[in-house]
Amino acid sequence: MKDAAPQTIYLSDYTPYGFVVEEVHLTFRLSPTATRVLSRIRFSPNPEGPDRDFFLHGEDLALISASIDGTPVQPEITPQGLRCDVPDGPFVWEAEVEISPETNTALEGLYMSNGMYCTQCEAEGFRKITYYPDRPDVMSVFTVRIEGPHPVLLSNGNPGASGDGWAEWHDPWPKPAYLFALVAGDLVNHPGQFTTMSGKKVELNIWVRPGDEGKCAFGMEALKKSMRWDEEVYGREYDLDIFNIVAVDDFNMGAMENKGLNIFNSSAVLASPETSTDANFERIEAIIAHEYFHNWTGNRITCRDWFQLCLKEGLTVYRDSQFTTDMRGAAVKRINDVSDLRNRQFPEDQGPLSHPVRPESFQEINNFYTATVYEKGAEVIGMLKRLVGDEAYAKAVALYFDRHDGQACTIEDWLQVFEDTTGRDLSQFKRWYSQSGTPRLRVSEHYEDGTYSLQFSQTTPPTPGQNDKQPQVLPIEVGLLSPNGDEVVPTTLLEMTKAEQRFEFTGLSSKPVASILRGFSAPVVLERDSSREERAFLLAHDTDPFCRWEAGNALARDGLLAMITDGAAPDTAWLDGLETLLRDSALDPDFRASMLDLPGQSELAQALHERGVTPDPQAIYDALERLKMFRAERWADLLPQLAKETRVTEPYAPDADQVGKRALGNGVLHMLTRLDGGAAAQKQFDSADNMTLQLAALAALIWAGEADAALRAFHDRWQHDRLVMDKWFGLQVALARPDRAAEQAKALTEHPKFDWKNPNRFRAVFGSLAANHAGFHYEGGAGYDLLADWLIRLDAKNPQTTARMCAAFQAWRRYDDGRQARMRNALQRIAGTPALSRDTTEMVTRILG
Ligand code: ARG
Ligand code: ZN
Repeated sequence: MKDAAPQTIYLSDYTPYGFVVEEVHLTFRLSPTATRVLSRIRFSPNPEGPDRDFFLHGEDLALISASIDGTPVQPEITPQGLRCDVPDGPFVWEAEVEISPETNTALEGLYMSNGMYCTQCEAEGFRKITYYPDRPDVMSVFTVRIEGPHPVLLSNGNPGASGDGWAEWHDPWPKPAYLFALVAGDLVNHPGQFTTMSGKKVELNIWVRPGDEGKCAFGMEALKKSMRWDEEVYGREYDLDIFNIVAVDDFNMGAMENKGLNIFNSSAVLASPETSTDANFERIEAIIAHEYFHNWTGNRITCRDWFQLCLKEGLTVYRDSQFTTDMRGAAVKRINDVSDLRNRQFPEDQGPLSHPVRPESFQEINNFYTATVYEKGAEVIGMLKRLVGDEAYAKAVALYFDRHDGQACTIEDWLQVFEDTTGRDLSQFKRWYSQSGTPRLRVSEHYEDGTYSLQFSQTTPPTPGQNDKQPQVLPIEVGLLSPNGDEVVPTTLLEMTKAEQRFEFTGLSSKPVASILRGFSAPVVLERDSSREERAFLLAHDTDPFCRWEAGNALARDGLLAMITDGAAPDTAWLDGLETLLRDSALDPDFRASMLDLPGQSELAQALHERGVTPDPQAIYDALERLKMFRAERWADLLPQLAKETRVTEPYAPDADQVGKRALGNGVLHMLTRLDGGAAAQKQFDSADNMTLQLAALAALIWAGEADAALRAFHDRWQHDRLVMDKWFGLQVALARPDRAAEQAKALTEHPKFDWKNPNRFRAVFGSLAANHAGFHYEGGAGYDLLADWLIRLDAKNPQTTARMCAAFQAWRRYDDGRQARMRNALQRIAGTPALSRDTTEMVTRILG
């Protein structure tokens, strides 16, 4: 078991390890409950690490034997590892331990999933495999031998000798233990090949369970595209003879970038038109790219310590978003990224879990694989690129690869290459890494005699542990439009560094309309008193697609807030503006589809809270329903025409063109369903030849209350497909009426296919419950109680997934006293569970505050 008494680790306490690991030899003798791991590790004193205390991490290991230079030793064993006296110079440590992969339900270390062995070592899972200095700044060359009766035996690096029941692997690139991986099982592969820019041939494989072979082709193409893109855009070439990807059904996260052997949650790699939606395809392409890009940003250059996690994650998310932009188009990708940031990162940054992009302390590092580290971390890179320009960015990154290849680095190292390249002082910019919370940016405008000025002020509200905030560097992109819609000042970068700052534009012939924060150039909340007319103008004319979308989004939000708080009628001027866009067939259907999106319930709850109104989840739900009905009725004439325009006649392909049409078409279907009671949806459900159309139709039928037959048919058709059944479970909870959501989730936990130990299935039900805002928060608190019951149950098996899901309660303080009391109760009940994991203890404690 992990250490029960929570211990806090601080960034400021960092010291280098006292030893260098010269090389590592591992032998695995696989057996479900008694795997033997033999290690032979050559250590020498580290001239840079003065501390000669020989400590190796190790958890849940049965030590069979240990020796130093061939002489048996008796180390002192603690729950966290072992200590031992060692010689002054270099020495060879050998140990044999026994572990039990079959009973490892935490899915961390070496474990089993459907009969196959696999590993997850990031962040600190390697210590559950053998005794080792399990920290990212200890890098070494690994040679691995696997013995087991499985047809496929894989590890990192290049394949070595193999025979019946054994295989050897050698990874020539020094790496930290968190990048170690092993897979053994009865797997089949989808092969491929790639020739690198210097002409080296690389063997590619996607390994899956028999039966899944037909779902690999898309992933393989995505991998090849990623490899080519990283060569073309970043000049990075792959560095081994082979690249393996393995799909695993039981996995806590999306995927893992182990050197040469990426391990994926099967939901993040398996795809086929019949079983995957367009959104699934896009996500899979992005995750494959993300893990592949880690080969340079993460593996060749890794993190000195886990506080530097954003060094690899922020940068790699930034890189994968650039890749998706190049593959699928900039406008909608940016809109999606910003929505995602607002839905996942803003609530985190504005609640009790708020932490800096580079945290300064933690108890369990697994709790810091967050939207702040990943997505805000990526936004910080985007700002840096905007500030220095594309050319300097390219130069600085090239210097980073050059200077730090093979090293374990810090954010300081990263910023230094930018300072060295540009001569800029980035000390103020660095606050983006240390200051938590979302900055508020207020703007007011003034026009006189041809001069237009923008007066900005920035403040960041207090966050846990940080009461006083300093001004940050904000890159603010602005464009000015003339009253007839022409762009009179093209996109200009304003660099705000002070708490208050004024920028002027001169020589204008009339008062312009400003388009502010183009491309969402900084992750802030923009507060701007603009009139409805001004927003409608930007919605109609802005040349920046993000700001155009944002104008519509702001109108939608403010209209909804007025409906919620004052019972106002829907804003018809906004709807008319939107209608003009919808009718404009020259506009990309995907962009038009995103214009139809309405702010989410949780986003509206947060907006109300910020305006000093206690959100009533049912009232938010009702207002959205009212608006959707109103909109459908108002556009009744338009819908058939749009439905026709978005019909795809070519064979299914998940490319940008078709995806956009289906997205808009499905938006139209949801409106139609409000008028025809589900007739069109039933027709689409019956005739769909792909999951995107089928699932949207099913969702519409669930909304209409006409889904019984369709749900049964869907179940019968897909009951043997785990990933499709996750959708079946998830949709029923996500779309349940508020008063039925908890009941629905509970009923599904009694379904024979509810395998609660599988994280995908658990999340399908309970992630969907938490995402059903009005349902989760329905009066009486049945949703809170149900989730708490199941989190308590899951914690004993899988702390990591449990801890993540506690975030469902993070916004508890923004609701009324009754809901607050019920949520506090649920949280306290979790906190009071005997033997609660360190992961969940830390999360619940932080949320309770
Ligand atoms: N590095 C992986 C990725 O970003 C995620 C690993 C998550 N591991 C964890 N223990 N939370 O692709
Ligand atoms: Zn990553």
